[in-house]
Amino acid sequence: MKFENILVLGGSGFVGRHVVASLVARGARVTVPSRRRERARHLLLLPTVDVVECDVNRREALAALVAGRDAVVNLVGILHGPGFARAHVELPQALLEACRTHKVRRLLHMSALGASLDAPSEYLRSKGAGEQAVLGAKDLDATVFRPSVIFGPEDDFLNKFVELAAMMPVLALPRLEARFQPVYVRDVAQVMLGALEESKSFGRAYDLCGPKAYSLRELVETACRISGRRRPLLGLPDSLAYLLALLLELAPGAPLMSRDNLRSMQVESVCDCSLPFGVAAQEIEAVAPAWLARIGPRQRYSVFRWRARR
Ligand SMILES: NC(=O)c1ccc[n+]([C@@H]2O[C@H](COP(=O)([O-])OP(=O)(O)OC[C@H]3O[C@@H](n4cnc5c(N)ncnc54)[C@H](OP(=O)(O)O)[C@@H]3O)[C@@H](O)[C@H]2O)c1
Repeated sequence: MKFENILVLGGSGFVGRHVVASLVARGARVTVPSRRRERARHLLLLPTVDVVECDVNRREALAALVAGRDAVVNLVGILHGPGFARAHVELPQALLEACRTHKVRRLLHMSALGASLDAPSEYLRSKGAGEQAVLGAKDLDATVFRPSVIFGPEDDFLNKFVELAAMMPVLALPRLEARFQPVYVRDVAQVMLGALEESKSFGRAYDLCGPKAYSLRELVETACRISGRRRPLLGLPDSLAYLLALLLELAPGAPLMSRDNLRSMQVESVCDCSLPFGVAAQEIEAVAPAWLARIGPRQRYSVFRWRARR
């Protein structure tokens, strides 16, 4: 079957912009719901994208969106609570119900590497419960993706280290020994596209990692070196890191770091498989200079604006 009419939940986000652009390039019509249409402004220029302002947590709204689609992609996710159960478990469950009701069999679902019911953080436990519900839906053709941290021009990861380096002479960070194997956002989009029409991927979960594993220390050093802002790094002891995270959680707005994030970092985010569907994984050193090396004051504002979704 050809998948031409596709609903992308979470399509307004960082990964979503690349997945939606890839689907459009392949000729699909794509509908992207957003709780604030303005956040998906960057998608409006794409020729076959329809951005709909609505809250997919409302079951009737979700059912109406799912009806008549050839496939649904679920990219909804949050990094900070509260709301993990709602976004990562209840929404996928409601989506499965809507897919059954409207006989939409094909579902691509984004989880996270390390997601499991007995993981140390609520983020990973809720992702684990969501992915289990999706893989348990044997009556549907579902595929789950479990990426390590994802990097790309609009990420909230490498860019953040460079922003911090621009503001501070020394970077004091927690868990510098934590391990990650970052995967490039365009590779993730290509893998999802490759899976879409591949029946071998039905009922399967794919771990997605880049070609190299790094400690957090190595990652920060790499991002800072590429941006031309080398900074000394200081490891925060756990007790201080948790105290700092608690204070950041109490401040208004999305915290820079939460205690739950620190718990997630207890699990190594690495894997030893290559990307499926013939996608060649890109290295940070090969692609990130295109945006990190030229971050000057002007570009920085556009990154800030993107992150603030303005
Ligand atoms: N980025 C990474 O490094 C990484 C690593 C592993 C896994 N993942 C997973 O990949 C997926 C995409 O991540 P991302 O980095 O693109 O995230 P993102 O930029 O924060 O985008 C998240 C999207 O989810 C929607 N959303 C958030 N909370 C919602 C809620 N409570 N109800 C309904 N919609 C909600 C937002 O839509 P609105 O327009 O309505 O705000 C937004 O489009 C997520 O599932 C994430 O957990 C990401």
